[in-house]
Amino acid sequence: MKYLILSDVHANKEAFAAVLAHVKRKPWDKVVFLGDLVGYGANPNQAVDQMRAIRKPFVGIRGNHDKVCSGIEEGELFNRIALEAAHWTRRKLTKTNLKWLKALPQGPLVVDKRFAIAHGTPIDEDAYIFGEIEALNIFRQTDYPLCFFGHSHFPVIFALSPDAITTILTVAPSFRFKLKPGVRYLINPGSIGQPRDGNPLAAFALYDSDSGVVTIHRIDYQVAAAQQKILKAGLPRPLADRLALGR
Ligand SMILES: [Fe+2]
Repeated sequence: MKYLILSDVHANKEAFAAVLAHVKRKPWDKVVFLGDLVGYGANPNQAVDQMRAIRKPFVGIRGNHDKVCSGIEEGELFNRIALEAAHWTRRKLTKTNLKWLKALPQGPLVVDKRFAIAHGTPIDEDAYIFGEIEALNIFRQTDYPLCFFGHSHFPVIFALSPDAITTILTVAPSFRFKLKPGVRYLINPGSIGQPRDGNPLAAFALYDSDSGVVTIHRIDYQVAAAQQKILKAGLPRPLADRLALGR
């Protein structure tokens, strides 16, 4: 089975459209979404519509921004800019799209008995895995051989073999990695709509469970158009600026 792994779209219609156009002619069977479809960007309804319009089986979980934007939580832990964007998003979402977002389940979920998915971590959906210490804690507290996660907006692979934990950093525009038997993995495909690894290209992954190959792709998109929309909507300027920087 071939999975399209998507995370942290953040209401960036241009980035999402570029990713979907790129995978149109690639073979894949199911969409796996790791959360944060909305928040920050200027096109929350379009992002939900884009996701719902994909005519393939879908499995997805909510992100912290999906929770605050749909009113499940009030965002006490959000910074001022994130909160302002979340309130703006809540006002803009149609009833149907708000309901759809609200219905996204909480992670972790196990997909087809093959791998787990989580937004932040499989223990706490709002917590981050930035480095090996956090990754090791998660490996110790869970027993998933493979878990895809999002939230940090940083594409990375953590591998736990019997004798070491390793960080594998990905290379743009396409990074191919074959999973090894007996090694456990935590994999972040990166963010579609708001990358934070210093590279502004939209990030996503494809996973072939038969061959055990994960490919992390980076795709160029119309960054300037997404930025202009953010400014035109009256959303905080740093949200537009950071798209060009990828951080
Ligand atoms: Fe996010």
